Amino acid sequence: MCTCSRVTKYYGRFRVSYRRTDDYTPGTPKIKIVEEKLDLPLHPTSALIKVHAVALNYRGANIANGGNPWPVTPHGILCNDAAGSIVAVGEKVETLRVGDRVAPIIDTANLTGREPGRSWLAADEDGVLADYLIFDEKRVSRLPEHLDWVNASIIPCAGVTAWSALQGVGIGKSVLIQGTGGVAMFALKLARAAGLRVILTSSSDEKLKSIGEQFPNPPISTVNYRKTSDWEEEVLRMTNGEGVDLVVEVGERGGIVIIVGYLSGRKSEDLIEVIPLSIDRRVTMRGIDAGSKHDQDDLCAAISATQMTFDDIIDSV
Ligand SMILES: NC(=O)c1ccc[n+]([C@@H]2O[C@H](COP(=O)([O-])OP(=O)(O)OC[C@H]3O[C@@H](n4cnc5c(N)ncnc54)[C@H](OP(=O)(O)O)[C@@H]3O)[C@@H](O)[C@H]2O)c1
Repeated sequence: MCTCSRVTKYYGRFRVSYRRTDDYTPGTPKIKIVEEKLDLPLHPTSALIKVHAVALNYRGANIANGGNPWPVTPHGILCNDAAGSIVAVGEKVETLRVGDRVAPIIDTANLTGREPGRSWLAADEDGVLADYLIFDEKRVSRLPEHLDWVNASIIPCAGVTAWSALQGVGIGKSVLIQGTGGVAMFALKLARAAGLRVILTSSSDEKLKSIGEQFPNPPISTVNYRKTSDWEEEVLRMTNGEGVDLVVEVGERGGIVIIVGYLSGRKSEDLIEVIPLSIDRRVTMRGIDAGSKHDQDDLCAAISATQMTFDDIIDSV
């Protein structure tokens, strides 16, 4: 079935995009609505996507406020998490059809995990907060059929990052998940589905209590990192002095430390602790750049297989 001709009805059409103002003065608008002509005709291997949901996460808000630790292109389109449907495809597209439900990957240079460069949506190139997007077929994944648009929209950033972070630990191992944010809660759901023991930290007893009630069996071990300044000792105690097998961000003896975020700041003097941590405690450190297209496809397959949904971890719609 040839669907490329459907694109002609979009010729001359405009899309609505939400671009950064790049005015970081407190109290001033951070985004402006722009109407811009769709970049048509399509490249032969590209698809035109109608966007149905966009997720706002820490990174999007941080970029809007000028806090991204890496450079961003001037007045770029915000946000990196979107779910949409294909409305037209280029004449050489082989893997997608009109009507497919898709999400772009957030590092469009990372298809297999072996590429040396990076190109993040909303930073190195435009993001996804627009009503129409154009992506090469190689840079989008098909979404799980059972998810609605809102649920599906959190897959590319929080989902793929959590998925990548949990690689390398199998059933019965333990994972320390820091905080109750988007990446952490997605990691919690995946960890439970994968049969991992979860220890969760938060600054809020209320959040820990409510998450404990949400995920009662088996009970989640919890630590308030604000009230317990030596919370790592508490984690050691919970694991009979052995420590956990994997930590999202900071670690224990012989485990894997996944470096995901930078919420506690980036002080160079803290780096001095990295050497004894890695040598004395035989810790392996692994940085996460979300994940590749392959990772996103694998995550979507796992979500389909488990029929997992995410209403319970989405703050508001
Ligand atoms: N490397 C990557 O590929 C990648 C991908 C996605 C996100 N990130 C980064 O990962 C971080 C989290 O993103 P997110 O979207 O999950 O953010 P989020 O939804 O805003 O969640 C942040 C949560 O982290 C906890 N937290 C804050 N400061 C902390 C600290 N100093 N120590 C321990 N926990 C702390 C808090 O949990 P409580 O309120 O429960 O205390 C907070 O709610 C950000 O830095 C983001 O830029 C990186």
